[in-house]
Amino acid sequence: MNAIDTLFHKNREWAQRRVREDPQFFARLVAQQRPAYLWIGCSDSRVPANEIVGLLPGEMFVHRNVANLVVHTDLNCLSVVQFALDVLRVRDVIVCGHYGCGGVRAALTGERLGLIENWLAHVKDVALEHRELIASVAGEEQRADRLCELNVLSQVASLSRTTVLRDAWARSQEVAVHGLVYRLSDGILRRVAPPVGGPAELQPALSTALERISKGSLP
Ligand code: CO
Repeated sequence: MNAIDTLFHKNREWAQRRVREDPQFFARLVAQQRPAYLWIGCSDSRVPANEIVGLLPGEMFVHRNVANLVVHTDLNCLSVVQFALDVLRVRDVIVCGHYGCGGVRAALTGERLGLIENWLAHVKDVALEHRELIASVAGEEQRADRLCELNVLSQVASLSRTTVLRDAWARSQEVAVHGLVYRLSDGILRRVAPPVGGPAELQPALSTALERISKGSLP
């Protein structure tokens, strides 16, 4: 069996298992999509969004790119956020980074990777903004870990400042932005920043998170 045939085979097995466990599973999904969460995560194959939080198809709207970035000119990401908030009415938007992120590490080391370096320049900007904090950390891996956290924080800020979020909050829609980080070595999610439930909560959340990160003491 070649690599693609394996997928067809596994897909059949998966679909049959789903129906065995819940005969109405697919019928329900066809009828409507009503996820409570939007997940913005890294494309890294070791961080499969639904799986690490134990959610089934239909329960989480997902956008992934390298290094989990929310870039103000990225129409792809912005469209996902707008659809999730305006149409699906999700209540929790999660930006999830992960330790051991190749994109974050490359931004720190200046490793040559080709075109993608232009995308990762956004992470380099975060490293530059916090160069003193990062320089004060001992150990290459620890510096990369701190940058993973700072990068999540920066994306929480970026997301909270989009027109989509500001408009949702302006019309009193209940939606919170969460910054999380996932550790590959233990499979555990941790909070990087307190939840941001409105424009006034952004600055305090950023300050609290920055203090935690600079002490290397995430809860
Ligand atoms: Co990554």
